[in-house]
Amino acid sequence: MSLFRPELDRIAGYVPGEQPQDSGWTKLNTNENPYPPSPRVIEAITDTARGRLNMYPDPLGTAFRRAAAEVCEVEPDWILPGNGSDEVLTILTRSFAGPNDQIAFPYPSYILYETLADLQGAKHERLPLEPDWSWDFNKVIPIVERSKLVFVPNPNSPSGNRWTWDDLVSLTPRRGMLVLDEAYGDFADAPHRGELLNSTLGKQIVITRTFSKSYSLAGIRFGFAIAHPSIIAGLRKMKDSYNCDAISLAAATAAIQDQDWMKSNTTRIRATRERLTSALVKIGFHVVPSQTNFVWATHPSGEHKAQYDALRAKKILVRYMSFPDVAWANQGRLDGLRITIGTDSEIDLLLDALNGIV
Ligand SMILES: Cc1ncc(COP(=O)(O)O)c(C=O)c1O
Repeated sequence: MSLFRPELDRIAGYVPGEQPQDSGWTKLNTNENPYPPSPRVIEAITDTARGRLNMYPDPLGTAFRRAAAEVCEVEPDWILPGNGSDEVLTILTRSFAGPNDQIAFPYPSYILYETLADLQGAKHERLPLEPDWSWDFNKVIPIVERSKLVFVPNPNSPSGNRWTWDDLVSLTPRRGMLVLDEAYGDFADAPHRGELLNSTLGKQIVITRTFSKSYSLAGIRFGFAIAHPSIIAGLRKMKDSYNCDAISLAAATAAIQDQDWMKSNTTRIRATRERLTSALVKIGFHVVPSQTNFVWATHPSGEHKAQYDALRAKKILVRYMSFPDVAWANQGRLDGLRITIGTDSEIDLLLDALNGIV
């Protein structure tokens, strides 16, 4: 007999990408940044560790919110810090979706949204993507209108494409919330635009961002939401009092204050991304033009699992992904390789290996 809630017993649980704990891997599987964080971050962590670890951290993250507000061109009461953007997504799910509410999200996309809906005991429905990763609005709008909460990662994972603001606006439910998950937004060629938050839809839109990717801080666990102060005030009731610790708050504050460091790393990653894309195309892969720090590559042979295994045998880790129930894919299952953009030498290693495999 299980004493767990049936919602929990029914699901397998979210399985994150592999994090090998031994050395020697070329790790291109979970979209981390291959470059180190700003030296200012290390200084801030050291100062905090020497300072007041015996005291609880600031429950509101005041210093971080001020720094983030400046970068995002809003007031600090538009910002909610979280223990990774995944925690922010959890807070949003728990805040807006009751058992009779529906959550919608694109498919194929970030699988966590479905797990969060299952854990919450909410209903959920997928917003199917077309073969070119666009929307057929005749298909998806009725689903959006049945939903209370819509999650859209922009740019998307695993495809790496970015949708236009007009497309996104149409995905706002008439009586519900649209969450734009901008985990990869800093890698896009055009900068973020926050106008939506100031539009008439402003109280129905939340933007989430992470420090795990562009700021090179996956090990710290920090993300945040940007939304109208009335939304942030509601979300605050749902979060743990001290959801962000003193070290991560100090690290994130220092990181966001060093925009030059972040931008110089994202510029390098974008250049490597273009080089990897052309090289993969040359050896026969189809690659979706990416606006992120990864590419989605598929090969006409369909041998993605074998390619993944062969790379893994050489200690090169990419992400093999397989999505069932994709109507337009071969035998209804879309699979492929999602490859994180590493340093130039890591990408050379990958390409050398792939040349021998494909
Ligand atoms: C689309 C998307 N959103 C959110 C996250 C989670 O980021 P965090 O590390 O801030 O929890 C990821 C992580 O890979 C992601 O791919």
